[in-house]
Amino acid sequence: MTTASEYAGLQSVIWVGTHLDLLDQRLLPEEVLYLPLETSESVWDAIKHLAVRGAPAIGIAAAYGVVLGSRHAEGSVEAWLQTVNETADYLATSRPTAVNLFWALDRMKARAAQLAAEGLSLEGCKQALLDDAIAIQSEDEETCRLIGVHALELFEDGMGVLTHCNAGGLATAKYGTALAPFYLAQERGIALKVFADETRPVLQGARLTAFELQQAGVDVTLICDNMAGMVMSKGWINAVIVGTDRVAANGDVANKIGTYSVAVLAKAHGIPFYVACPLSTIDLNTPSGDLIPIEERHAEEITEGFGKRTAPQGVKVFNPAFDVTPNEYVTAIITEKGIVRPPFNVNLKKLFE
Ligand code: MRU
Repeated sequence: MTTASEYAGLQSVIWVGTHLDLLDQRLLPEEVLYLPLETSESVWDAIKHLAVRGAPAIGIAAAYGVVLGSRHAEGSVEAWLQTVNETADYLATSRPTAVNLFWALDRMKARAAQLAAEGLSLEGCKQALLDDAIAIQSEDEETCRLIGVHALELFEDGMGVLTHCNAGGLATAKYGTALAPFYLAQERGIALKVFADETRPVLQGARLTAFELQQAGVDVTLICDNMAGMVMSKGWINAVIVGTDRVAANGDVANKIGTYSVAVLAKAHGIPFYVACPLSTIDLNTPSGDLIPIEERHAEEITEGFGKRTAPQGVKVFNPAFDVTPNEYVTAIITEKGIVRPPFNVNLKKLFE
């Protein structure tokens, strides 16, 4: 049996010294293929087209994308700094909702400016910026482990827990956010029964969450999204835990489309609804959820997902990738610094003091 500390899982982003190896998550669970990426354009493309996805993993990939896009800059440190800033601004156009993308890019820009001001050589600047991308990745691993430790306080042996989308090791450096407590529970001999929504239309729950939990030997049952209410009504679900792409200052939470419906169902059944995320996902600059930009994706994800036409040609389609769960549905937000409860507009701020 794999334990959390031994859990190798599949690493979604690997810096191999000369380039980035990126796990193509679109091919899972059938095929494990790493894309060798050498340019910031290929990283942009991988983020845009979901080869890498999940808020923290997008941020990590983008940080390496800045390194790839600026490593051939020649001449002066000033010219390199300008290339870093341009590459970061370009990568920021890949997807709009997950704030970790902008958080990681801002951190890389700030670090580059600091290195340039310190008077390092051009090669010294390039190496130190790469070191910071590596640090973003390794910090995320520890952050996720801590989220798991705190979240586990909320779960008891024998509980049934529902999750939506994939907020696991594949979406982060390791362990995940919402899935981290499941790996830690397994390590500590706490038996949890995980229910994974398949998560239409791209099936991150079926293809990724069911895959990574099954690989690790966690007890996971896959259900269609429209079964969540029925499963709750049977009394099989004691808690819901999901990840998030952005938490607004008032505690409204953007996450994969369908999360809001799950939250409403949880409230109707008196089931706690937990959100797990690192501090880098909390955006105090966005006052409320209605101000979070929501990505709309291609109609084909719904009309002919995975190559099979399932709707008439030319039908009108609405395909938002995310929805916003208002804070009144959120029981608690679990971060690496601990469990935050309402009032979120007061308590989220305290995390940053
Ligand atoms: O479109 P995706 O697959 O990038 O959406 C991912 C999610 O919604 C995750 O739940 C979220 O990013 C949290 S990942 C720890």
